[in-house]
Amino acid sequence: MIKRYVFGEPIGTDAVICEISISTDEINELRYSDGSFSYDMSEDTKVYGLGEANRGINKRGYRYVSFCSDEPSHTEDKESLYGAHNFIIIEDKEIFGVFFDNPGKVTFDIGYEDINKIVITPKYPDMNVYIVNGDDILDIVRQFRKLIGKSYVAPKWAFGFGQCRWSYETSDRIDEVIKGYEENDMLISSVYMDIDYMERYKDFTVSDERFPNFKEFVSKVRNEGIRLVPIIDAGVKIENGYDVYEEGVNNNYFVKDKDGNDYVTAVWPGYTHFPDFLNKEARQWFGDKYKILLDEGIEGFWNDMNEPAIFYSKNKLEEIKKSLSEIDIENDDDKLLDIKWKFNELANNGDDYNAMYHNIDGKVVNHDRVHNLYGYNMSRAAGEAFEKLSPDKKILMFSRSSYIGMHRYSGIWMGDNCSWWSHILLNLKMLPSLNMCGFLYIGADVGGFGSNATEDLVMRWMALGVFTPLFRNHSALGTRNQECYQFTRTKDFKNIIDVRYRLLPFIYDEYMKAVQNDDMMFRPLAFEYSEDKMAIEIEDQLMLGENVMIAPVYTQNVTGRYVYLPENMTFVKFVKDGEIVTEKLDKGVHYVNVELNEVPLFIREGKKIKVVKHSVITDNNLRKEIMECSIEYKEEDFEYIG
Ligand code: GLC
Repeated sequence: MIKRYVFGEPIGTDAVICEISISTDEINELRYSDGSFSYDMSEDTKVYGLGEANRGINKRGYRYVSFCSDEPSHTEDKESLYGAHNFIIIEDKEIFGVFFDNPGKVTFDIGYEDINKIVITPKYPDMNVYIVNGDDILDIVRQFRKLIGKSYVAPKWAFGFGQCRWSYETSDRIDEVIKGYEENDMLISSVYMDIDYMERYKDFTVSDERFPNFKEFVSKVRNEGIRLVPIIDAGVKIENGYDVYEEGVNNNYFVKDKDGNDYVTAVWPGYTHFPDFLNKEARQWFGDKYKILLDEGIEGFWNDMNEPAIFYSKNKLEEIKKSLSEIDIENDDDKLLDIKWKFNELANNGDDYNAMYHNIDGKVVNHDRVHNLYGYNMSRAAGEAFEKLSPDKKILMFSRSSYIGMHRYSGIWMGDNCSWWSHILLNLKMLPSLNMCGFLYIGADVGGFGSNATEDLVMRWMALGVFTPLFRNHSALGTRNQECYQFTRTKDFKNIIDVRYRLLPFIYDEYMKAVQNDDMMFRPLAFEYSEDKMAIEIEDQLMLGENVMIAPVYTQNVTGRYVYLPENMTFVKFVKDGEIVTEKLDKGVHYVNVELNEVPLFIREGKKIKVVKHSVITDNNLRKEIMECSIEYKEEDFEYIG
């Protein structure tokens, strides 16, 4: 049962697809006063949800701020990441879900100021609030997911393994990467193109110099079984003669300042304007631009910098310039320090968000009120265009920034994590929370984006990545190379990638089931074994579909880990040379041995999962079809384990 309550004058977000009549009762589940919603927690209260957020699966014990942020350092103290997913489930003696459909900043204090209190405070009070009651957690999730509509379905090839780096800046570099994988007999389905493929970072351009005959190149790579996936950034470079810029200016498609001038910020290309994705016509216009690359043979994209990320703005630079001109650099110590802070605060400055305006159905709306809808509508622009431009062929789309509702058009990746062991665990913990909010095509930068990766870390991370719908190794400029062939134990990497392709039919099935049934592909043990005191506290193991539990190794210098089995299970290990080892284990705590080159999983008693036989996956005649994920397996190609 879902109840809707209206506060003030909500701005339409299109997060919800069902019409729910407005309830005139008081909200029973939460207290509302002075613009905040509160709830008194007991010792046993648990709080789940918030999608792509920091810290645990149980969100209790910290403060989270829904405000899409370009936050490249995911340390424990960070309150905002790239997404804003305002759905939580509170479980105590009673249980209910609540969705705050509010596109401005919303603060979720979940036992931060007062360890026993939840206080939720929106910056702007205008919103719809939905309270979802149900039989149990999963029932509530499914009802909520019905409310927000079916999740985006990625093409099958996007379930293959992908390699990315900032940047493979020429076609030769991409060839080199493909060769690296091929020479080491490793399967790969996609190579990603980061910003340097463009001409001076201009969206929908391809550098002729670095990618001559691009269409031919795309097709050559495609013939090898691999798709190229370019990045698209939110900001449009200001450059005379650049058609996207000129069309945007001429048609008033860019975000404005208070006087109606196109707002000037800077991102990778230098000075840019932001397309007003909240304006239907601008959205359509930008979406249609993807055709330029679809026509070159491209079948997938990743949308970036769409919080939107701002490096600096013209306004803010003017302020600094003015302060500098007024200063005596020999004597004004305090003022100089002030200027230093001003430089530090240039990026993603709230003043800039406050100074930008959208045109929503003819109404001028300040950006800060609708900040969290920006990335959502960039990907929606693409998604709506793909329905028109490519009705018969699914196009891959995932985004960095998001809001609930975007899950119907796009997947997400978890942004700029680091090559830290703790981020393998963070990756795991975000999976079920994102599923609760409708995001099913998800994954993190495997191996870590920032910082230098080590061979063991990448290998352990890959052993988690084999289970996530998006399975992409990505790393930042200036960090150590982390393509799987760059390390010494290439055979082991090959083996782990083989496991992904052997599991792919199973993973794809579980994903499609979750889409069709509005279900969670990844579930915390607490959702499945809610009566089991030990299971409900476990946050480093997850259920994958109905029959499998995963428990990756995420610490360095270990040869295994402790797992808790909430029931009897078969411990399965994919070991070197394509062997599968199984062992029946009883309910309880076990230390399981997992070598660096092994992929573990657990299967519930009496259940089996299907896995492609190693001999099939390593058949060279099938290599291309396997990489394209277009292969039609026959029943005899599978073995059943459990
Ligand atoms: C952002 C993205 C990252 C990308 C980089 C350069 O940091 O999150 O994935 O590699 O920009 O485009």
